[in-house]
Amino acid sequence: MPTPEQVLEALKKVRFPGLSRDIVSFGFVRDVKVDGSNVSFTIHFSTENPNVGQQLARDSEAAVRAISGVENVRVNLEIAPRQMSGAVPAGGQAGILEGVRYKIAVASGKGGVGKSTVSTNLSLSLRALGHTVGLLDADIYGPSQQMMLGIEGRPQIDERDEKIMPMENHGVKTMSLGLITDPDTPVIWRGPMVMKALDQFLTDVKWGVLDFMVIDLPPGTGDAQLTLTQKVPLTGAVIVTTPQDVALIDARKGLAMFRKVNVPVLGIVENMSYYICQHCGERTEIFGHGGGKKTAEMLGVPFLGEVPIDPQVVIGGDTGSPIVVSHPQLPAAQAFREIAAKIVQQIESGAPGHTHGVHEHAHIH
Ligand SMILES: Nc1ncnc2c1ncn2[C@@H]1O[C@H](COP(=O)(O)OP(=O)(O)OP(=O)(O)O)[C@@H](O)[C@H]1O
Ligand SMILES: [Mg+2]
Repeated sequence: MPTPEQVLEALKKVRFPGLSRDIVSFGFVRDVKVDGSNVSFTIHFSTENPNVGQQLARDSEAAVRAISGVENVRVNLEIAPRQMSGAVPAGGQAGILEGVRYKIAVASGKGGVGKSTVSTNLSLSLRALGHTVGLLDADIYGPSQQMMLGIEGRPQIDERDEKIMPMENHGVKTMSLGLITDPDTPVIWRGPMVMKALDQFLTDVKWGVLDFMVIDLPPGTGDAQLTLTQKVPLTGAVIVTTPQDVALIDARKGLAMFRKVNVPVLGIVENMSYYICQHCGERTEIFGHGGGKKTAEMLGVPFLGEVPIDPQVVIGGDTGSPIVVSHPQLPAAQAFREIAAKIVQQIESGAPGHTHGVHEHAHIH
């Protein structure tokens, strides 16, 4: 009598077309059932290529049939929609970040409000929730993710197809111009060169199959941001602000930009929202707080949460050991985790204005 373990073992020989890993290690195989000599299981994945499903079904059926005692094999194919939103529109070019299910841009109208910090800690929190995650540092002028994730050295090139391998730390894959250029030489580039570098990160880096890609944008609402939102079919954008009025005004500009290009805004994060005294635990609202929440309400987008000011956030970012990894129990780390959970929940439930694609089912007996 075959066992579910044998079935999984056999399915580990089936590779996802074009990728080096097998469908079991990707987590695509679900609901393995064995009833005497009858075996059934589901393969759940997302793709834009209609041939992939048929090929996976054929390969996995053949692999399971080879187990002695198996007579009937039933493969359920569940091909998930590429995007949570049928309305993701900003188009995006075909083939860009194809293996990535959800692509989230982290933006702000104003610089220095903590986009990069939020991007890193959000990525690590998503990873902690069990998702596979990439973090793309799209801030070509001031790349910081190599430092925040604590990565040194240069990325490898895969000689076979001359693609760049992302680098990885804390379980998150990343690519940043900071990994390629000399950190001591400031990058003085013109617009077209910037776009070229970004393009390469999107098309020439072997990101593989990921649940999430977090994209750390440069500050502002200029060309680089707009072009990116047009190239990448974004699932949504997260806007980071601080409680000061100037930052809030700029947050509105950011929001307006995403609305203009039809990218759903997943919500607003208020960073450096308040300070908790390390000695007495008293909470001080240095800049006045609650502006992020009010702005979110006024503009009709979700409020994702507020992150306190904590010196440990700075240390974590500077030493490559971000707070959600180094001090997961601190309130700031908890705030980041809650924000990540809210984003996931919102994407998975198909937030307002989002329509889910239709699942395709194919049965092969
Ligand atoms: N919650 C926080 N508590 C304390 N310091 C913080 C917090 N969030 C961010 N910082 C610090 O503020 C500074 C700016 O943060 P960060 O680099 O993430 O901002 P940014 O919006 O990405 O900036 P830029 O616009 O230059 O890309 C960093 O030194 C960072 O460590
Ligand atoms: Mg930054």
